[in-house]
Amino acid sequence: MRVLLTGGAGFIGSHTAVSLIEAGHDVVVVDDLSNSNSESLRRVEKITGVAVQFIKADLADKSEATAALERSDFEAVVHFAGLKAVAESVQQPLAYYRTNLDTTLNVLDVMRSRHVTQLVFSSSATVYGSPQTNPIDETHPVGVGITNPYGWTKAMNEQIIRDVQSAWPELSATLLRYFNPVGAHPSGLLGEDPAGIPNNLMPYVAQVAAGRRERLRVFGANYDTVDGTGVRDYIHVVDLAAGHVAALLNAAPGLSLYNLGSGIGYSVLEVVKAFEKAAGRPVPYELAPERPGDVATSIANPARANSELGWRTRLELEDACRDAWNWQSKNPEGFRRT
Ligand code: UD1
Repeated sequence: MRVLLTGGAGFIGSHTAVSLIEAGHDVVVVDDLSNSNSESLRRVEKITGVAVQFIKADLADKSEATAALERSDFEAVVHFAGLKAVAESVQQPLAYYRTNLDTTLNVLDVMRSRHVTQLVFSSSATVYGSPQTNPIDETHPVGVGITNPYGWTKAMNEQIIRDVQSAWPELSATLLRYFNPVGAHPSGLLGEDPAGIPNNLMPYVAQVAAGRRERLRVFGANYDTVDGTGVRDYIHVVDLAAGHVAALLNAAPGLSLYNLGSGIGYSVLEVVKAFEKAAGRPVPYELAPERPGDVATSIANPARANSELGWRTRLELEDACRDAWNWQSKNPEGFRRT
């Protein structure tokens, strides 16, 4: 299959490019590089030995999207492109709604006019808002307790895709709700490259271990969890990438929906310990107030993806810590200074 990856130069997109190529598919990447670096695609080529077609374009712009996508042939789309910083979305809601919704509308418009009938959308467990139960399965209500515009754009994009699919039944649309993606490619050539201060736990911990930041602030120590700190379902990005390949091949026809997670939760302090072990270095931390909008626990029930997609996670938290540390050590400045 020839697969278009929107936002394919980013963290999850670039790992998915590797998995698709290794499974024998062709990929075309479209990315505006606003929060990524085309060096990631050179690394994909290095890992796979296959050239990646790249088109630089902002898909939120209708004419750019149409022009860019006319230049290439593809039979399926994996749609990652979008803004993803939670705190920034609270400060700049218009930018988030405009970029994340327009991009999806334009991608769907082009797919419709080109008769491309397979879509996989990069959604997030954030659509479950404040979860009523854990582990969370796909029947859990969506949209209750979402605390930020980023999360709303994921929920709204899901709704847009549902509505387009019901009006256009030939469309096979799969919504993948990721839990917490972490880790890096085991080669040390690809990984997460956050601009500025990392928002997410594992890249922050990696920079503390590397001595780039003094100490981690643990947001909240009085949650109703094993040790009082927040519990999450961390999924190795290589497993997550494989989930996209499985979705393209095995998703149920029509509209389908899958959690991608491991089903296992770890606390912030358990992640810190696992990282210290993998890196052989201390990760100093201090307890800090809860981060607004955080929930105590978020763990996937991945049973549907396990049975329908024939997919399950294979890698553990310790693999993710080892690979994230390998990436951090070999690329202290990410893709910028190489
Ligand atoms: C966050 C977003 C989510 C997004 C996901 C991936 C929120 C509320 N949720 O998930 O919408 O899809 O990232 O980008 O922001 N932590 C610390 N110190 C830190 C950073 C994090 O203690 O410096 C803790 C958090 O409180 C949480 C855990 O580590 O308990 C994981 O945090 P993070 O990696 O930011 O992911 P989420 O908040 O789960």
